[in-house]
This record gives sequence, C-alpha cells and structure tokens, in this order.
Amino acid sequence: MPLHSCIAWLPKARLPAPNPSAFLAVETLRDVCTTADAKMETKFLQPFLLLFVAISVLCLSDASHEEQARKTMEEFSGYPADSPPHHYSFTPSSLSVDIQGLQRQIEELSSFSDAPAPAVTRIVYSQTDVLARRYIKSLMEQAGLSIHEDAVGNIFGRWGGTEAALSAVATGSHIDAIPYSGKYDGVIGVLGAIEAINVLKRSGFQPKRSLEVIMFTSEEPTRFGISCLGSRLLAGNGELAIALKQAVDGQNISFLEAARSAGYAVHEDDLSSVFLKKDNYFSFIELHIEQGPILEEEGIPIGIVTAIAAPASISIDFEGNGGHAGAVLMPARNDAGLAAAELALAVEKHVLDSGSLDTVGTVGVMELHPGAVNSIPSKTHVEIDTRDIDEERRNVVVNKIHQSAVRIAENRGVKLSKFKIVNQDPPALSSNSIISTMREATKQLNVSFKLMISRAYHDSLFMARISPMGMIFIPCYKGYSHKPEEFASAQDIANGVKVLALTLAKLSAE
Ligand code: GLV
Ligand code: MN
Ligand code: MN
Repeated sequence: MPLHSCIAWLPKARLPAPNPSAFLAVETLRDVCTTADAKMETKFLQPFLLLFVAISVLCLSDASHEEQARKTMEEFSGYPADSPPHHYSFTPSSLSVDIQGLQRQIEELSSFSDAPAPAVTRIVYSQTDVLARRYIKSLMEQAGLSIHEDAVGNIFGRWGGTEAALSAVATGSHIDAIPYSGKYDGVIGVLGAIEAINVLKRSGFQPKRSLEVIMFTSEEPTRFGISCLGSRLLAGNGELAIALKQAVDGQNISFLEAARSAGYAVHEDDLSSVFLKKDNYFSFIELHIEQGPILEEEGIPIGIVTAIAAPASISIDFEGNGGHAGAVLMPARNDAGLAAAELALAVEKHVLDSGSLDTVGTVGVMELHPGAVNSIPSKTHVEIDTRDIDEERRNVVVNKIHQSAVRIAENRGVKLSKFKIVNQDPPALSSNSIISTMREATKQLNVSFKLMISRAYHDSLFMARISPMGMIFIPCYKGYSHKPEEFASAQDIANGVKVLALTLAKLSAE
C-alpha cells in the first residue's frame, strides 16, 4: 500500500488548521510519505514507520489545538478551562462567597424567633420553626436544589451529579435554637452549605457525585428531651422511632401531634421510613462555629475536627412532701428541692473527681413544684448533661450520679421516682480520608487550620454511623455559644464556606 494513501486516514477534523506549525508538520509527513513511496519498496517497514510518525503528529496537533481551545474558552467564560467540568482544581479566586448575601440571610433567619433580638429561640415544630423551614426551602429552591422532606421534617436539597447512580456527598446542620441562644449555632452549617453550593455553581463546577444539603430536625433537645432527633433517626435508631410514638413535650403535646401540626408524619405512625441505609452517602461534612475559644485565641481560621466527644443526658424526678414554709419544722421535712440541689452539687463533685479537664457536667434544668416561695417543694425535675472525650470516664460519672441520686433520696426521705438515662452516646471519629481532603482544601485556599476535638455534639455524631464524616469549625467571638452574644465574623464565615465548597467539590469528584 502506498504510504501517501495510508496517511489519508488522518482525520481531517483533527488537522490543526489554526496552528501553522502543526499544519506544516502534517504536510511534511505527506511529503515524506510520497517521496518514500517512490524510493522504497521495503513494504514491511512502511506501516510501522507511518504509525510512529502519525501518532507523534497527532499528539502535537492535538496539544496545540487544545491549547488554543482552552484559551478561547477561558477568555469567553472568565474561568480556568483546563479542567473537565467536575475537576476540582479551582483557584482560590474562582470560589467567591457572597458574604453580604449570606449575612443578610443569617439576619433574616434570626428574625424567626420567639425571643427578642439579639436572642433567638426556635423550638422544633413551633410556628416560628415552620416559618424558618419555609425560608430555608425557598433558599434551596433559589439555589436550584430539588427538595424533599421526610416524616420528621429533615429537609434535603439535592444538586444532581453527572453520575446519578453514585452515592451523594452530603452536608448540613440544624436551625433549631435553644431558648435565648444566638444566630450562628447550626445556622452556619445550613445557610453556609447552600452558599457553598452557590459558590460552586458560580464557579462553573459540575458535580460528578450529587451534592445534598440537609437541614436536620431538632438537633437541640429542648422540646422532647432528645438531642439530634432527626439525625439519630436517619442513622436508623429503631428504639427512638418507637419511643417517639409515646413522647410528649412539657405541655403534654405528643411528638406526633406536634410533627403533624408542622405538616410532617401526616399519614404515618411508623417513623422507620426516615432511616437511611449505611451506604446512602459517600461522605457527610458539617460546617459549624467552634462554640469554644481556641481558634479565636490562637488566631487560626479553620478547625478540622478529628473526633466528637461522648455526650450523655439524664432525666430525674424526686418526690417528697410539700407543706407550709413556716409551719413545717426542719426535722419533719422531706424536701424534694433540697434533694435536687444536693444532687446538683454531687454532679459537680463527680465531674471534678475525674481529674480531667475533658470531663464536664451541667445541671441545666431544675424545676420545683409547686414553685411558690412559701411552699416546700414536693416534686422536682432535674436534667443533667455530662460529656467527655473518653467514653469510659464519662460512664463512670453517669454511674456515680446514679449512686448519689439513690443515696440522697434515702437520706432525705424522698422518692427517686425517675432516673432515666435519656442518651449515653459513644464518641465519633472523623474519617481520615475526609480529614486529608479538608487539609488539601485549606492548603489550596491558603488558610491555616488546626486539628481539634469537638466538645459539643452535632448531627455529625450520628451521621458518622452511616457515612464517613468530617467537620469544619470556624472561630466564634470569645467562644460564646448558646447565648445571644454568639458571633462569627464575615471573614471567618467566608473562609468556612470556601473550605466547605472545595471539600465538597473534591469529594464529589471521587
Ligand atoms: C449542641 O447543641 C450541644 O449541646 O452540644
Ligand atoms: Mn446548640
Ligand atoms: Mn449546633
């Protein structure tokens, strides 16, 4: 076969018309082939020679052509075009956070509150919570996410990836707020996640794995006494699904009645529909304020969480004898209020006796009945929270609290009518590979970070049961949280959103 006819298969469309030097190379190849035709009869060598030269020229012409095309695309779009759509080699400047818009949203969300500003109170399934949820869904819609809600009101907003069959990368947090708290706890992880999606969309990114923003129901235990209600259920907690059917709030409103008033669980009693399978998500990331002072004190913009401390909470009732505050003499009393007070001091003692600063205990609820200054308390209700990064040490404290409650009741002649461990959760570890991805993201964005433990609990504690998990912390003013003074600066929020966005992009491309 003549060499010049072999070269005819070089695809015309791939000829580098805009590039003179590559064009010249192909023409030279044609010449070489034609001359070789005339002179050489060593036919067995011809195909090899041709193949070698043709491949070299194709590479050259392709590279030149692509270079030209890349330049044109970059000039046209304003974004770096040297990556395929779901590649994650962003430059820091291509990720731009609309921080003013985000701060406006934080302010707007804080106006859905049952406490006067700057305090925020937003209790699950209250009218205020329902309005706040509507606001979140409208932002998800504006971000182009497809929304669905489960039977307890966990809200999911999905940006479909190019490979829809792959498990999604999820991110999110909560927007419920304990009485008289601040604007940032949880909120940064929901509004920040929606903004992270917007950041990626604006940068021209297309996810391979779908990206999903989750707003979890009732991370705070305020109304039904159980923390992280939505994420515990998502992680498949069958006992909780059953217990919630009987649960009532302080006003004796049942969980299901409250959920239904907010438009959830309308046709079902069986909350197991909320459970997710273990491989439902490829990874889960939560952005949150630190709720402690370390990052601010050390001037570090990002915390990468390695583990979440083990929380436990206990609900206790004492019943004694009420009576007249003047007429009943001290030796004749069985004061349920004093039993509660003595137990509170015992909690402090047991925590301090652990010898570790990592052990903490709080008596955050102490209700006296009937609650009149001239009446001996006949009943008390106490709620205790204790945590540690060391589960065993935390369990020792829980046992000691139980022993003290029994002893105090005996000594004071009151009845310990309830000692209920509401939850006694193990700690959770972040995924090493997500930690590495976050480290890479901070490096690319040129922000420093610190590896740290989360002493607060988060929905991530439970998402870690069904998905590899990671958390990003940002500093907050003096470490304040769960009070109106909670504050995070625009710069710190923007850094957190960027690190989240880049981490999501990287994970979505895996
Ligand atoms: C979360 O709100 C916690 O109490 O850690
Ligand atoms: Mn909180
Ligand atoms: Mn929180």
